[in-house]
Amino acid sequence: MSVLIAPSILAADFARLGDQIQEAEAAGAELIHIDVMDGRFVPNITMGPVVVAAARRVTNLPLDVHLMIVEPERQIEAFVEAGADALTVHVEASPNLHRTLQMIRGFGLQAGVALNPHTPASALSEIMSMIDVITVMTVNPGWGGQEFLVEMMPKVARLRAMIGDSHHPVNLEVDGGININTAMTAAQAGANVLIAGTSVFNSGKIAKNIEALRQSMR
Ligand code: DX5
Ligand code: ZN
Repeated sequence: MSVLIAPSILAADFARLGDQIQEAEAAGAELIHIDVMDGRFVPNITMGPVVVAAARRVTNLPLDVHLMIVEPERQIEAFVEAGADALTVHVEASPNLHRTLQMIRGFGLQAGVALNPHTPASALSEIMSMIDVITVMTVNPGWGGQEFLVEMMPKVARLRAMIGDSHHPVNLEVDGGININTAMTAAQAGANVLIAGTSVFNSGKIAKNIEALRQSMR
């Protein structure tokens, strides 16, 4: 299975965001991951639809938007208009998850669900047919630069098996702490999308960092 790399712009130099996204695209990144935080679902506050719209203007890569916000269903339309391709909500923030996923798909976007470290794979077992993207958090959401939680690997493997049984294509993402020491572990557990912030944008050497990530999996 080929593994896709999704740079998380949370770790980019925001004064040069457009250039850095284009550099990641030129270096062969397959998706651009955008972390939206509201200071409520997670303690930190980051970016919103205006940043998604700005990214949309500089790249043709799919924009993978990760909503770490309460009541995500209230914001879906704004992110659709901004140009997101995939919208991922947290199961922990979505009491009516089925309806929220229907809403996202209704706009023609890929519907994603993210799982915090304490949330089991089984939380998704009854709605697999509604899901296009699953994001396994391999850190506590809120900040970049945290340490990879290797304990999440059995959950990744369980979800990979559930995807196999569902006979419908799903991107299985890991998010947090992905670097040259952890990428292979996550890919071997069954992840096919690696979201990486710090390890991609570190020292601004984006192409070199992406190549190092790929090399680490050979
Ligand atoms: C964490 C975010 C991640 C974060 C990953 O809450 O969802 O996408 O940017 O950053 P690194 O790769 O630095 O762990
Ligand atoms: Zn994220």
